[in-house]
Amino acid sequence: MRLDYLTIFPDYLAPLGLSLPGKAAARGLVEVHVHDLRGWTRDRHRTVDDTPYGGGAGMVMRPEPWGEALDELLGQDPHPATVVVPSPAGRPLTQALARALSTRPRLLFACGRYEGIDQRVLDHAREREDAEEVVEVSLGDYVLNGGEVAALAVTEAVVRLLPGFMGNAASLEEESHEQGLLEYPVYTKPSSWRGHDVPPVLLSGNHAAIAAWRHEQSLARTAERRPDLLHASHVAGEWEVLPAA
Ligand code: ADE
Repeated sequence: MRLDYLTIFPDYLAPLGLSLPGKAAARGLVEVHVHDLRGWTRDRHRTVDDTPYGGGAGMVMRPEPWGEALDELLGQDPHPATVVVPSPAGRPLTQALARALSTRPRLLFACGRYEGIDQRVLDHAREREDAEEVVEVSLGDYVLNGGEVAALAVTEAVVRLLPGFMGNAASLEEESHEQGLLEYPVYTKPSSWRGHDVPPVLLSGNHAAIAAWRHEQSLARTAERRPDLLHASHVAGEWEVLPAA
């Protein structure tokens, strides 16, 4: 998978060289390219923003540098890219969306700042042949200063799902959200610690009883913390976030 990031703060994306995506790059599973959007400006001050038409607070990112950057970067690879635009107005990042994105050969993250990117950049990208699709993605119902942190989060959620990345596929299947439920609580040694004991069923060696207990714990946790996840139509709907690759 090829991953491109367009940002005015390339240093913000330094963690891509560490930890999980760094490991994936070292193993040849991903190829990472970080680009400074200001490289596609043409004025002396390398301006990327301007005041909004119609008035209002804040600044909007000008379309020209984005257009030129996309012209250059999208043309660089035979695979059409999925353009991922982090935005508080996007669709929520879910495990199902991460899984769908993990099937794509190429993701290009367009990290906006200020009040956002001129809408025409997205509209134009949606018309391009070298862009497979344009997906606006939100980390949640709160506002960040820019898309970089969200791009890192999406990257981490996606890269760990790439075939060959995680050693143990079973551990992926059991974790929170893969089954539409929150994960059960987990314990390790010692079996008693500061007056708290590991639930005895986990020490029983009875695999059926352990599986039943874990499922029950998952359901109880989900009902208490995220009852919205138990709504069947919601869970089913999540699998329609992107068309099949
Ligand atoms: N940019 C600003 N806020 C954001 C959010 N909540 N999710 C994704 N990108 C953002």
